[in-house]
Amino acid sequence: MFSLPLRNDAVLRPLEIWHAEEFAAHLDRAREHIRPWVGPAFVTDDLDGARATLRRYAERRAGDQAGLFGIWRDGTLVGGVMFVDFNTALGSCEIGCWLEPAGEGHGLITAACSILLDWALTTRGLHRAEWRCRADNARSSAVAERLGMTLEGVQREYWPYGGARYDKQYWAILAPEWQARRA
Ligand SMILES: CC(C)(COP(=O)(O)OP(=O)(O)OC[C@H]1O[C@@H](n2cnc3c(N)ncnc32)[C@H](O)[C@@H]1OP(=O)(O)O)[C@@H](O)C(=O)NCCC(=O)NCCS
Repeated sequence: MFSLPLRNDAVLRPLEIWHAEEFAAHLDRAREHIRPWVGPAFVTDDLDGARATLRRYAERRAGDQAGLFGIWRDGTLVGGVMFVDFNTALGSCEIGCWLEPAGEGHGLITAACSILLDWALTTRGLHRAEWRCRADNARSSAVAERLGMTLEGVQREYWPYGGARYDKQYWAILAPEWQARRA
């Protein structure tokens, strides 16, 4: 019902349980594209799996611990952004994202993440926002850099996938750094 404009023809909206069929259809278009780069629990195979992801986020959202937001382009769900974790006690959150191939290359994730960062670091008063990705995920690292995040460290051979292990990058931006960029 409520949506925020991103660029031209795209909007950001809460992604909720009632979107399960649309989300499952989107995952059919996105699955193999995102599989190497996101947590395995997010890459479900059917409608029940898609609904379970939406329910998990809804329950954690109710506890102010996470959040899930879809990006619709020309009326089609093409991806989204999320608070993987939202921790008011620590003053810290982790942001994540994904797109199906048709959504890539339009600046949608940078625009959507800016909205999440502004809400977390300004409206909600958190101090840190983190971004974690496989070190060889150049498109994801580029988003973190575009958002003004700093690469704080690397966990070596943290991420098992396809019989190999990959380094994992930790990026973050602090509230004063975000405010300075906005000014
Ligand atoms: C990571 C991922 C979400 C990045 O998507 P993306 O489209 O590259 O990111 P953005 O929305 O920020 O868009 C940036 C691209 O849009 C282009 N763009 C066009 N207009 C733009 C604008 N107004 N502002 C910023 N970028 C713009 C940029 O040039 C860039 O494209 P390029 O890299 O080909 O030059 C996507 O590659 C993806 O879903 N990958 C698989 C899953 C994944 O890795 N998820 C993250 C796990 S950590």
